[in-house]
Amino acid sequence: MAVFITFEGVDGAGKSTQLKLLLEHLESLGTEYLFTREPGGTPMAERIRDILLTPAYSGMSVISEAFLFAAGRADHVNNVIRPALEAGKVVICDRYVDSSMVYQGYAGGMPLELLSAINEMATGSLKPHRTIVLDLAPELARERRAAIAADRIEEKGEWFHQQVREAYQDLARAEPRRVKLVDASGSVESVQDHIRRLVDEVLPRPRPRG
Ligand code: TYD
Repeated sequence: MAVFITFEGVDGAGKSTQLKLLLEHLESLGTEYLFTREPGGTPMAERIRDILLTPAYSGMSVISEAFLFAAGRADHVNNVIRPALEAGKVVICDRYVDSSMVYQGYAGGMPLELLSAINEMATGSLKPHRTIVLDLAPELARERRAAIAADRIEEKGEWFHQQVREAYQDLARAEPRRVKLVDASGSVESVQDHIRRLVDEVLPRPRPRG
């Protein structure tokens, strides 16, 4: 049975580390999965990613951002995500529509109905079965990010990142069955345990042998 799971959260919450560990878990279970990411995931969408994240375009408007993210997403859903789900795979995607609702919408000021409409169009209304949000205070996330060079979106200020955090918390309240908040301030192992429990809930059950 196909399952679509997405990962979200403030920049610097430890998403990459946790995703790597989760993929090891899926491999140990023998689950057939596809791992992909946004922005990106197809050759065209990866080129759009470069435009979106390069610090060179610091004056880009939120409207341009919203359309570029959605344009890449349409290509990604049509050519990668939907075919993998149709083949019965578990698809794990690092960021998806919720990132646009949160970053361009709640925090960026673009009207949510408009964003929702362009994303419905881009995805053919494809929704994840489960969305894991790594929740972390912006001050802690900033410390964790300090080691790596910031991209254009990460360069936005503390206020922006606080809005992002609160928006994810609102989403989790609005759609509690799909969107699950995970407190990312704990140890790598305890955060991973929590994530595995939430992922296992939606994975197909292994068929009993014999
Ligand atoms: P990335 O380097 O992939 O960050 P992370 O490792 O935190 O996922 O950069 C993605 C950035 O793009 C991140 O700051 C979130 C932002 N973003 C949006 O603003 N809107 C979107 O629709 C998506 C998918 C990402």
